[in-house]
Order: sequence, then C-alpha cells, then structure tokens
Amino acid sequence: MTTLLKFIHLATIAIWSAGLIVLPFLFWQRRGLEPGPELDRLHRFTRFIYVEITSPAAFIAIGTGTALIFLQTTFLEWFSLKMVLVGLMAMLHVVAGLVLGHLFEPGRRFGRAAFVSLTLSYLVLITAILWVVLAKPPIDSNQFATELFTPGGLGHFFADTRIPMP
Ligand code: HEM
Repeated sequence: MTTLLKFIHLATIAIWSAGLIVLPFLFWQRRGLEPGPELDRLHRFTRFIYVEITSPAAFIAIGTGTALIFLQTTFLEWFSLKMVLVGLMAMLHVVAGLVLGHLFEPGRRFGRAAFVSLTLSYLVLITAILWVVLAKPPIDSNQFATELFTPGGLGHFFADTRIPMP
C-alpha cells in the first residue's frame, strides 16, 4: 500500500512540477500575438495544461501525500519544513491560475522579467523540496523553538487567548 501510494505521489509530483515549469514559458509566448487563430490555439493549449494536467496532478499529489502522512515517519522537523515549502508551491500554483485568468484578454502580456522570475521561483522551490525530502536533514527545533514538538505546546502559546463560549 505504502509503495503504491509513494509511486502515485512521485508520478503526480513529476507531472505537477513539469506543468508549473512549462506554464511561465507558455505565458511568455503570448507576446506579440494579435487576436486570431494563433492566439486562440495558445490559449486553449495553456488552459489544457493548467486545468486538465497540472491541477489534477497537484490534487492527487497532495491527496496521496496526505495519506502517506499516516503511514510514514512524519513527526520530524524536516517534514514540517517540507510542508512550508509545499505551501509556497501551492500558492505559486494559484498565481499561475490568476495570470492565466486574464492573460488572453486584449492588450495583455507576460514580460520576460515575469517569465524568468516565476520560472526561477518554481525551480528553486521544487529543488528545495526534493532536497529536503531526500536528504531528510536532521534539524533540532529545540535550538530555536522549544515548544514546537511538545504535546500541548500550542495551548501554552495561545494561553492568553480567550475563546468566547456561548
Ligand atoms: C501537501 C503536499 C504533500 C504531502 C502531504 C506530502 C507527504 C509526503 C509523505 C508523508 C511522504 C513519505 C515520507 C517518508 O518517506 O518518510 C512523501 C514522500 C515524498 N514526497 Fe511528498 N508530500 C507532498 C508534496 C510533495 C511535493 C510538492 C514534492 C516534490 C516537489 C514531494 C516529494 C516527495 C518525494 C520525492 C518523496 C519520497 C521520499 C522518499 O521516499 O524518501 N512531495 N511525501
């Protein structure tokens, strides 16, 4: 079961990552295109990559990853760091969707600086996640956050917060 989940997790991570890396390049291709069949073709293809390939792959990757949480050793610091990085990757996935939502309206473009910075952000994040998950670096959270893994630590953190009861 774990092997199958990991296989699906890794396969969909590969598709998700590839989709994110190629999307800024497709956005950049919009430059100089006037309304017409060429623009429509690029629009259709870019939407297909985002809506039918990258987003479902992200959905399955997150689902299988969540299932793996219950089957593997995930209460270590490296996994928390991975989750922070995955959160950033998911946010940048949404950024690609927001760009796509307006890019094919008249007069819109996606400049070279945007193309380079979005591509670099994806590459850096994906490489960082892969490194964290494969190297599983030993991080001692007691050096900087003593209560991070203490049972009930969150309760102490919010000790002064009163939740009004009806
Ligand atoms: C919400 C999203 C995700 C969750 C909940 C999740 C969770 C997990 C869990 C629990 C494992 C097993 C860890 C272990 O072997 O101890 C795993 C393995 C793995 N994950 Fe994820 N993951 C997510 C997203 C990602 C992303 C975005 C990437 C890469 C860009 C990634 C790459 C990997 C790799 C390479 C492994 C295999 C590690 C190994 O077998 O040593 N995961 N994931």
